[in-house]
Amino acid sequence: MKITFAESAKADIAAFVIDEDGRLPAGAAALDKASGGLLTEAMEGGRFDGKTAQLATVVLPKGLDARRAVLVGGGKPKKRDARALENIGAHFFKAVGSSGFKTAAISAEDPESAARIAVGAKLAAYRFDTYFTKLKPDQKPSLSGLTVISSDPKAAKAAYGPLDAATDGTYLARDLVNLPPNDLYPESFAAKVKELSPLGLEVEVLGEKQMAKLGMGALLGVGQGSVKESQLGIIRWNGGKPGEDPVILVGKGVCFDTGGISLKPGPNMENMRGDMGGAAAVTGTMRALAQRKAKVNVVGLIGLVENMPDGNAIRPGDILHSASGQTIEVQNTDAEGRLVLCDVLWYAQEHFKPKAIVDLATLTGAIIISLGHHHAGMFTDSDELAAELTKAGLAEGERVWRLPLGAEYDVQIKSKFADMRNIGGPAAGSITAAQFLKRFVKDGVKWAHLDIAGVAWVEGEKAPTDPSWASGYGPRLLSRWIADNYE
Ligand code: BES
Ligand code: ZN
Ligand code: ZN
Repeated sequence: MKITFAESAKADIAAFVIDEDGRLPAGAAALDKASGGLLTEAMEGGRFDGKTAQLATVVLPKGLDARRAVLVGGGKPKKRDARALENIGAHFFKAVGSSGFKTAAISAEDPESAARIAVGAKLAAYRFDTYFTKLKPDQKPSLSGLTVISSDPKAAKAAYGPLDAATDGTYLARDLVNLPPNDLYPESFAAKVKELSPLGLEVEVLGEKQMAKLGMGALLGVGQGSVKESQLGIIRWNGGKPGEDPVILVGKGVCFDTGGISLKPGPNMENMRGDMGGAAAVTGTMRALAQRKAKVNVVGLIGLVENMPDGNAIRPGDILHSASGQTIEVQNTDAEGRLVLCDVLWYAQEHFKPKAIVDLATLTGAIIISLGHHHAGMFTDSDELAAELTKAGLAEGERVWRLPLGAEYDVQIKSKFADMRNIGGPAAGSITAAQFLKRFVKDGVKWAHLDIAGVAWVEGEKAPTDPSWASGYGPRLLSRWIADNYE
């Protein structure tokens, strides 16, 4: 779907946002008059009074420019923040996307509103249907062009540019999370990342031999039961001053998490195709930064592995040597994410002088018990970083909620045989996982861990901007965080 901004447009569908007072804006009033009052009639007879998410479709008489008028409830104008505008765009798309018509135009107020409506429509238009072989044309969306009408289309387009880059990052993250694990495994994930090079990203991939040389025994331990080779993806965006220290993003990329020898139960195991949601968030963000030519140096590091049970798989009781030199007793092979991340976090600090590190991981089921599906869990010792991420999350609708770190939790990850164990018992599972990661972050490094297990994908009731299984959580939050604090 091509999105454009214009002062006016001729389209099959003319759409208007109606305030909760139910009054028609100028364009709609003109169409109401030209149609002999059909818009007013649809509102009065159709219980439409402009409340959020309400929709009314009007069949227009022949001879007018548009074939249909669509009224979208806009709620109270004072409450119309970025999220409300995106939802308006999304509801609008849901109403017209598969209507059979090809073009639609929706009227917006200021340029920022126009941009947000466009973002909402695009987020709602996402589909993951390449594996369906029997879709008939009428089961696919019909809309190919959407114009957002604004009094200052140039300003609207300028506001849309960086938001659209982030949205394309969301699309990529959604695709990666949705892809089945037989098609998305460490090497094919790395190959997809390499395909982003034409955007100006520098992509390097380390294989198992190279990681063994670096001593990354924790990450390699997770992958050793898989026939797929583990990979470390290093993605550089050099948009800042040459030599300037980078911001670093780290992602958990467990392309499938069976639990390993500590095998997960069968029901819903297929969801573990999404256990690379952290790596997807990082990859999507790097794409967004390149697309909007961000004036900053950023490195994305993704640890790509598959966690399988096998004759060669790690066992509970094994002791792994991490690259940092610290040893880890594996007591549960299903707590594998922290084993991957600890070596990648070490790599980040050994090879760069990061201004800040944010890692993202579908790390614990416990975070879903704590926060459900509306906030990622955030763990950091830096009040500054916590404030930055909280603000960016609220601005873009990818929210984070801070939970504590604390030395008191360390006793839970003590091991009788090694420097630490990889599980912390039933209490505070997300915190002990974060506390484990903290042991691999040097003092003074500005670091935050985001546990995205509850937000990377969601079954059931969802926002209209989140139409598929994978949410694509991450790129919008991180692109905004970097823009506001590091550019
Ligand atoms: N990938 C899972 C966490 C997860 C669970 C993500 C549900 C998304 C939805 C992770 O590797 C895991 O299995 N964690 C264990 C840790 C436990 C063994 C300490 C968990 O959360 O049960
Ligand atoms: Zn696991
Ligand atoms: Zn996992």
